[in-house]
Amino acid sequence: MNNMIHEVKNHLAVAVANVEAFRDGVFEPSPARLEAVLQALAEVDVLLGQLPHGMAAATLVASMKPMDVCSVITNEVLALEASAQQHGVTFEVHQCESTGEACRRFGGDPTRVAEIVNNVVSNAIRYTPAGGRIEVDCRPADGTLVLTVTDTGPGITEADRKRIFDAGYRGEASGGTSGSGLGLALAKRFAEEHGGSIDVMSAPGAGAQFAVKLPGTERRAISSVGADGSISLL
Ligand SMILES: Nc1ncnc2c1ncn2[C@@H]1O[C@H](COP(=O)(O)OP(=O)(O)OP(=O)(O)O)[C@@H](O)[C@H]1O
Ligand SMILES: [Mg+2]
Repeated sequence: MNNMIHEVKNHLAVAVANVEAFRDGVFEPSPARLEAVLQALAEVDVLLGQLPHGMAAATLVASMKPMDVCSVITNEVLALEASAQQHGVTFEVHQCESTGEACRRFGGDPTRVAEIVNNVVSNAIRYTPAGGRIEVDCRPADGTLVLTVTDTGPGITEADRKRIFDAGYRGEASGGTSGSGLGLALAKRFAEEHGGSIDVMSAPGAGAQFAVKLPGTERRAISSVGADGSISLL
């Protein structure tokens, strides 16, 4: 296991170093260099695919700290735009508009917030057929940040709606795709760890809408900040 983590870290470090070099203008993101980054990420994917299901989640420890929740959401959504395009779906993003102060007064775990976004938006991309449309919206309501992801995919039957948040459950839309049925169970767990929730609205054949509610620190005051920047929420 330790060997595997070591290898994953190595490959990720390669990818991060290259992307930073592109951002800082050190390297041109030439097709060959981009291919090298893709290869490093493909290695990570292969290595993680060898983990027994659920293990990666079981070993994660949440670390709450003051964070700009909107920039984490925005970055994660931006990173997913390429897969939406590859999949042939229109991707419309209302990037946490007019959220201002509510974004910065948020206490949470940035990695987990990014995971919530990734799981819900990745599902929308995966299950919406080419030619469809996905809309991502993010706005404050009563001191809570509400992220909605709406798609024009196949929708979710009532029977599936009762079970899609169960670990290991895959519903009708999953037919023919590979996956472990863990994404939404994790997203729910992570949202609840932030005092929030995740709900789905859907009628079969009429697309799906997922709403993630993340209370900010207006609702959950920070009670203490540790030496490492970690916080406790009231
Ligand atoms: N946007 C969506 N449209 C239609 N069905 C969906 C959508 N999102 C989730 N589902 C249904 O919910 C099920 C559970 O989703 P979940 O993300 O937990 O697992 P998964 O996508 O099957 O696998 P993975 O572990 O790779 O995420 C899916 O198998 C699918 O049937
Ligand atoms: Mg999924």
